[in-house]
Amino acid sequence: MDVFEIEGPVRLEGTIEVGGSKNAALPIMAATILAPGKSVIEQVPCLADIAVLGQLLTSLGADVERVNGDLHIDTSLIDNPVGEYDIVRKMRASICILGPLLARCGRARVSMPGGCAIGDRPVDIHLRGLRELGAKIHLEGGYIVAAAPSGGLVGKQIFLGGPFGSTVLGTANILMAATLAKGMTVIESAACEPEVADLANCLNTMGAKISGIGSPRLTVNGVSRLKPVRHKVIGDRIEAGTFMVAAAITGGKLHLKNCQPDNMVAVIDRLENIGVTVGLGDNDCTVSMDSPIRPADITTQPYPGFPTDLQAQFMAMLALADGNSVITEKIFPDRFMHVAELNRMAANIRKEGPNAIVAGVDTLIAAPIMASDLRASAALVLAGIAARGKTVVNRVYHIDRGYEKIEEKLNAVGAKITRKNV
Ligand code: EPZ
Repeated sequence: MDVFEIEGPVRLEGTIEVGGSKNAALPIMAATILAPGKSVIEQVPCLADIAVLGQLLTSLGADVERVNGDLHIDTSLIDNPVGEYDIVRKMRASICILGPLLARCGRARVSMPGGCAIGDRPVDIHLRGLRELGAKIHLEGGYIVAAAPSGGLVGKQIFLGGPFGSTVLGTANILMAATLAKGMTVIESAACEPEVADLANCLNTMGAKISGIGSPRLTVNGVSRLKPVRHKVIGDRIEAGTFMVAAAITGGKLHLKNCQPDNMVAVIDRLENIGVTVGLGDNDCTVSMDSPIRPADITTQPYPGFPTDLQAQFMAMLALADGNSVITEKIFPDRFMHVAELNRMAANIRKEGPNAIVAGVDTLIAAPIMASDLRASAALVLAGIAARGKTVVNRVYHIDRGYEKIEEKLNAVGAKITRKNV
């Protein structure tokens, strides 16, 4: 198992190229199921989660090949519409094959995703939406068993909101299924995340007829077939946000290439509130910090609100603020596994229900710590860079799920991170 040994504190300065978005690439890979033939998806990060979805597509009958930064996915043959438990259990996002399989094959059997470190993550809204399109769905032996009507799925007006607002992968699933449904589907309370917009744009290039992209109302006029596509996924706004915090927490200056600041308005707003200077370009930005970290209140919300996937990283930064901050988690109220680990580094954070009260301290002190999930582990790496002494982050495989070569990217701008196999 790999660990990171991190020597701190350091000041980061230089340029980092942000990779393609994991959370855009995953549903787009699933979307290739809808169009028999060979699609090319460009700028797909080389990550454990991407490999899992590649394995899943292969198990369905597709041919998946990585050619440098691109994925070539040939879905001419999809003869086994079954998402096996042994693959699905490795990654919850595997659920995004359900909608495309149902639309293409008229039936699907996909293992029900299980528990997750960041909280309960039901898929009831995905199933509700597919049922609205006419699918018959039941659970059997831990599998979701779904069948479309004999004439295929039928478009409808669907409300897709849930107790925590919209659902990203739920919207992706229904959107993909609706592209081949008969007639018009209107998805109300659709997720507006840039990753959903990227999927919708990709589907339109495949021949789908989707309007309202980026808004909470998506209208889909069903078509009879889609064609294979060449599509470049957007830059990863969560990776970019993580590096923005890296600049800020080390009092450094980073130029981030291949990030779309337009997709990060809430994040940039909070950074500026904290005292960070952000210089904006169309496809890049510069982030610098030369004052003490000011406290700030943060509430996670669906896009365009502040993303839950950056909550842990901002908490690591606010642990060093000059005062008290309150972080409220409105998407995954239990997503606070990093609190105890940050406190082991002498942070002063108290969890109260869906809130974390972060009392700023002068110094974080290195300690052996345990990564619990992807974004929590990114927060621990950031804390390690800023902390005094040698931090050892265990269970680095969590970070490898979503950050490509994070230690190489950070070391190139001044971090001292060593990957060790223990
Ligand atoms: C996506 O997960 C992301 N994953 C997550 O990123 C991200 O944290 C999350 O969206 C929120 O932004 C991918 O895109 C692969 P949701 P998703 O459905 O789609 C509740 C990361 O670190 N809900 O938008 O699974 C749910 O419990 C990952 O990269 C239901 O109640 O999240 C949550 O409270 C982690 N019923 C809220 O909705 C449902 O059927 C939003 O979840 C579906 C969701």
